[in-house]
Amino acid sequence: MKEFKRYLITSALPYANGPIHIGHLAGVYLPSDIYTRYLRLRKREVIHICGSDEHGVPITIKARQEGVTPSQIVDRYHDLNKSSFERFGITFDIYSRTSSAVHYETAAQFFKTLHDKGEFIEKTTPQYYDPEAKQFLADRYIQGTCPHCSNENAYGDQCEKCGSSLNATDLINPRSTISGSTPVMKDTKHWFLPLDKYEPFLRKWILEEKKDWKSNVYGQCKSWLDQGLQPRAVSRDLDWGVPVPLDNAKGKVLYVWFDAPIGYISATKELTPDWEKFWKDNDTRMIHFIGKDNIVFHCIVFPAMLNAEGSYILPDNVPANEFLNLENDKISTSRNWAVWLHEYLDEFPGKQDVLRYVLCANAPETKDNDFTWKDFQTRNNNELVAIYGNFVNRAIVLTNKYFKGRVPEPGEMNEYDLRVLDEIPVIRQNIEDNLDNFRFREALKAAMNLARLGNKYLADTEPWKIFKSEPDRVKTILNIALQLSATLSVLTEPFLPDSADRLKHFLNMGATPWDRAGEKELLPAGHIIGDRGLLFEKIADEEIENQLNKLLATKGENMTAGRSLQPPKDNISYEQFAEMDIRTGTITSAEKVSKTKKLLKLTIDTGIDTRTVVSGIAEYFEPGAIIGKQVSVLVNLEPRKIRGIESKGMILMAEDPDGNLEFVVPGGNIENGSVVK
Ligand code: 2FM
Ligand code: ZN
Repeated sequence: MKEFKRYLITSALPYANGPIHIGHLAGVYLPSDIYTRYLRLRKREVIHICGSDEHGVPITIKARQEGVTPSQIVDRYHDLNKSSFERFGITFDIYSRTSSAVHYETAAQFFKTLHDKGEFIEKTTPQYYDPEAKQFLADRYIQGTCPHCSNENAYGDQCEKCGSSLNATDLINPRSTISGSTPVMKDTKHWFLPLDKYEPFLRKWILEEKKDWKSNVYGQCKSWLDQGLQPRAVSRDLDWGVPVPLDNAKGKVLYVWFDAPIGYISATKELTPDWEKFWKDNDTRMIHFIGKDNIVFHCIVFPAMLNAEGSYILPDNVPANEFLNLENDKISTSRNWAVWLHEYLDEFPGKQDVLRYVLCANAPETKDNDFTWKDFQTRNNNELVAIYGNFVNRAIVLTNKYFKGRVPEPGEMNEYDLRVLDEIPVIRQNIEDNLDNFRFREALKAAMNLARLGNKYLADTEPWKIFKSEPDRVKTILNIALQLSATLSVLTEPFLPDSADRLKHFLNMGATPWDRAGEKELLPAGHIIGDRGLLFEKIADEEIENQLNKLLATKGENMTAGRSLQPPKDNISYEQFAEMDIRTGTITSAEKVSKTKKLLKLTIDTGIDTRTVVSGIAEYFEPGAIIGKQVSVLVNLEPRKIRGIESKGMILMAEDPDGNLEFVVPGGNIENGSVVK
């Protein structure tokens, strides 16, 4: 493999519209921090770049919901997230923000360079516009009825109920979430990066040269490339973002995914006047740490931008992780289903390493994983306390007891002693191989094997039993146990920096570079060790129950405060209600609409006629089970063609907060065709 002179590590810039949670940490910031700390310990030249991503529509939506300005939102979360990362021991060399002047200037210049080189296509396309609010509407600002499942609150980019991804123009009865008015189509001009033009370059660069990338990353890139790339708009009609730096571009800003990755460059500029050696020298190895939802932007779009600009290096690797779930449910900021970093740090003071340990041991490296509080407790009590903590504590306590805290001179080594000492370089090599290949879970497991080795060594040699009869033998045993402890303090430092520091303090040793790990005299005989204390403490059942109760309360709130319970709609007149013709009817036949998952074709005897209704209920009801069922039907809904079938009317359904559906049925026996009013 090529030897690089220096490393540029980037961690995805988190949006400054919410606090950091364990999913962010396990996916991005913990692995990037472990990796950077490891490189620093190996005396490599390295910088670690991060900061807040402060643009994009979700930030403007949050600001509108809270009645504050977008600046107030990003200031709040930038400060909170910056300090939470620090308290958690994430060592960025800079935590910048995309609202900085340097960033505005850098992003605008980048756009201008591409524009002047003729790399953009200018296109005018019709887009939804809110005539009342007098602004173009981003997809998230439009809601309407999902054409697939009839959910009335689908967004212009996605229906959260049935999961379909949508175009705003797919929505039935679209409405602006800003003013409630019906949007109209209006022409607007934007700049597009013709990704199709970069396809040959990307195919060669990724598919041929990056076969060593993680399979989830390589696979996603291949699938994007195989589908064929399309031009992508790099500007938006919005008043929040970096203004498009052209004369004829009033009201246009750079698309957030155009400016955010440039944030890595701006942050480096802010960090050092020597920034160009990190970005423009092929001897720099750039590595992007991201979550899987960011793969396309970091592996396809940003490299295409860098390639178009021409003077920058490309990432050498993009070790993206999958997602972390919490107690078997997707982590969700809007549902408050998360373990928030700042709350954890307040509730478990001094225990940042416990969370680092659990998140790394269970990191979603190759598939989505689940965080549970029970597992958190078990890993702390049975691994950190019982293995790592127990071993070093015994080594230190016995040294104090038998040798007044002085590292004893080793005597002659027996075969077992030598085997244990020989194991150290093997373990170190194992950790390095895994870290070099972004396998952090395996690397941590290997580091813990060193503690396991020490624990077993003391358990097998039982120095406390033989001190009286064989004091010289105990000198050798404790010398070895202390060398192991000192080595542990070096090799676990990237993962558990606070504990490794405390252990060094207990052993009275200073900062030690990685390459000294495994030296036989890391702690020379005669060296006096320092204060002692406990490295890890047990976590009681009660603390875990408190956390689970906190989560349960969130679930309860979601149920009652309306996970899906919709707020009441605006009043309508009696006349509007009376216009609806709802009748009782009976389902006389039901069959699945071919090639669809959700649709049933129903024949209904409405008393007044027999008609066909296509309904999106196939995932809830077996066709055979609903024949003969009496239902309520809106019979004067304008007929619509769905999958080539003319559907006349709509069956009324009731939906509970968990998304379960039931027919709205007449309570007793009543003739078909009876009016529901
Ligand atoms: O997914 C996210 O949280 C984005 N804010 C990540 C941006 S990464 C980079 F491009 F800045
Ligand atoms: Zn839907």
